[in-house]
Formats: sequence, C-alpha cells, structure tokens
Amino acid sequence: MTTEVLSAAAPYLIEQDYAAYTEEQHSVWAELVGRALRELEKHAAREYLEGFEIIGLQKDRLPNLVSISKRLAPRTGWNSTPVSGFLPAPAFFEMLSTRRFPTTTWLRSRDSLEYTPEPDIFHDVFGHVPMHAHKVFADFLEHYGRVCASISDNAILEKLGRLFWYTVEFGVILQRGEIKVYGSGLISSHGECKNVIDGHCAIHRFSLDEVLETKVKVDELHKLLFAVSSIDQIYEAMHEAEHRAISGRL
Ligand SMILES: [Fe+2]
Repeated sequence: MTTEVLSAAAPYLIEQDYAAYTEEQHSVWAELVGRALRELEKHAAREYLEGFEIIGLQKDRLPNLVSISKRLAPRTGWNSTPVSGFLPAPAFFEMLSTRRFPTTTWLRSRDSLEYTPEPDIFHDVFGHVPMHAHKVFADFLEHYGRVCASISDNAILEKLGRLFWYTVEFGVILQRGEIKVYGSGLISSHGECKNVIDGHCAIHRFSLDEVLETKVKVDELHKLLFAVSSIDQIYEAMHEAEHRAISGRL
C-alpha cells in the first residue's frame, strides 16, 4: 500500500467527484472505449487486455478511481490517484516512486474524440492503468520514478524521458510474431494506433542505446518505435539506465 506522505505532489491532489459526471460524459466514454476496443482486441498486448479485466474497467461508465485502486492494490500496490492536471517533473516522479499514478479526472468532449492537448481520464485510465496490474511493469514504473526523483541533471532526465516515451507512452511488443501495442499513447489514440497497425511506422528491435538517442517528436505521427520481446526487457533496461546514470555514462 502507498502510505508515504507526498510533498512535491501534494498541491496537485484532488478528489474525483464521481457523481458530477453527466450521462453525456458516460456516453462519450462508452463511444471512446467501444471504438478503441474493436481494434485493441486484435492489436493490444496480452498484458494490457488482462489488466483491463483485472482493474474492472467498464465499457459504458466512466471509471471510479477508488474502485480501480482497490482492485489494483492486492496485485501490485499501485493506486490511480486523482490530480488537477499536468504535474511538474518532481511531483510526477515523487508520485511514481510511491506507486501512485497521477490521474486526471476530466473527459474530452464529443467534438474532440481523437485528440486532446493534455491527458484526460481516457488517456490516463484506459491508456495507462491496465498495465499497472502487471507485476513486472509495476516494478519498472516505480523504479523509473525513484531513479528520476534522485536526478537533477536535465540532460540525463531528458534521456530517461525517452525511455519512458518509447515504453510507457508508445511501447510495442512482439507477441507470436506480431506487433502488439501496450503504450498508453497508442492505446488511447485511434490515429497513432492505426499508424502502427497499418505499417506506416518503422519498428526496430528495442535497444536501450537507440532509444536513449531517439528524440521525442510530439507534433507528428511516429515514424519509428521500438519493440520489446517481453515486459522484462524494459525492467532490465531501466536498471541498465540507472547504472549508466550513476556512473556518468548516460
Ligand atoms: Fe500518458
């Protein structure tokens, strides 16, 4: 369980006012989930689809973060913790290092189903949280937060940010000879997911060296992503990245 008191993140913590969601918002959620699942049942990683069941996501009702966290707690101890919006890096890392995932509670409107400039509850919960039920992914994510929380050098943090980007946000995995998606930015974006499925994005075998050198571009669909062969690989890559950071080789 997460019992440590938060300091940097404390000003950003809010409550989720579940009763305030309107029927229109539940209906937008249902449309987003329904449309995404039609593709993801074929193209999402096994670990993601298992996590979806474990956390008890409902297809036609917005998720209640307390219920989700209750189901996650006995599996991995992760908590989907409501926050007011985008967090500065120290607050973000502090939360990850204590197994709290900063989760926004607002939902995009019907006229912007495909894209929101900032993460909403669809990206954060539908996109991210199912993977938090996977024990190795859960350990990796906490470790990522702990290492980043201990680093102040921005050049090193930028490189570690690439590792996060090409795994947590835009990770793909090779399963039974096929590319499957597990990164939240692919799971929660129809366009990004289709870009990969339709073969418009090159896929290299995951290499920590190449990931650390590949700059993040946020203003276009991806042209290159990296496929792991198992979730263990990102756990091991994070430990290697930590050793390099400590010894000044990152
Ligand atoms: Fe995200």
